[in-house]
Amino acid sequence: MTEIINFAHRGAAGHRPENTMVSFARALELGATGIETDVQMTKDGELVLIHDETLDRTGGVSLWIKDLTLAEVKSHDVGSWFHEDYRGETVPTLQQLLELVKDTDTIVNLELKTGVVMYPGIEAKVIEAVRRFGMEKRIIISSFNHYSLVECKKIAPEIRTGILYMEGLYEPWNYAKQIGADALHAYKYALIPELVAAAKQAGVVYHPFTVNESEHMKALLQAGVAGIITDYPDRLTELLSKQGV
Ligand code: G3P
Ligand code: MG
Repeated sequence: MTEIINFAHRGAAGHRPENTMVSFARALELGATGIETDVQMTKDGELVLIHDETLDRTGGVSLWIKDLTLAEVKSHDVGSWFHEDYRGETVPTLQQLLELVKDTDTIVNLELKTGVVMYPGIEAKVIEAVRRFGMEKRIIISSFNHYSLVECKKIAPEIRTGILYMEGLYEPWNYAKQIGADALHAYKYALIPELVAAAKQAGVVYHPFTVNESEHMKALLQAGVAGIITDYPDRLTELLSKQGV
């Protein structure tokens, strides 16, 4: 049986400030076998891991990532909003995360945030970084912007892609096949358990997000999902150890 991927959402976002190095490190300690993170690009073309397009929510300043250099982004604390203990945490670069996991088996789900800001050329840059680390087989690129996924497949057919969506799409595995995607990263309530088998039959797997309740995780595992994206990888680790899967 293929191993279920325990994807830590933004690192262990339930326990540490999201998308920081301490959050990623904690996720691995809690048994995560995958890490989901969000990729944006600075004014000087550096790839950084932060969910929002601005530093308002996690950095406490109204500045856009696209308008700042990497050095400027790095000058802001994005840990203390979560808890004073994490003051001094900064926005990580993609390179920092790849360095952290390069000698492990961790799967990395890079979500390209090409929704509000388009970041021209971000797909090629991300793939270049992944190839530099020789991590093509351990990366899944996802996005709500499916043009980004098609672009990634054009550049790197060997890298898996995942379609992010929130709606009740009809037989989304057919759409996945059409655009050459490998996985469906469905909002947890957009996934109809009875349909997981049909998707699998078509060669497309489900990785629903963001599932934080153990009971919900259990139901999705029973439905046959290939992985779960969660803020609490410890809960999924516990469940998987009990189920012996
Ligand atoms: O990739 C799954 C999930 O992270 C998508 O939504 O807003 O948390 O990035 P969001
Ligand atoms: Mg995300």
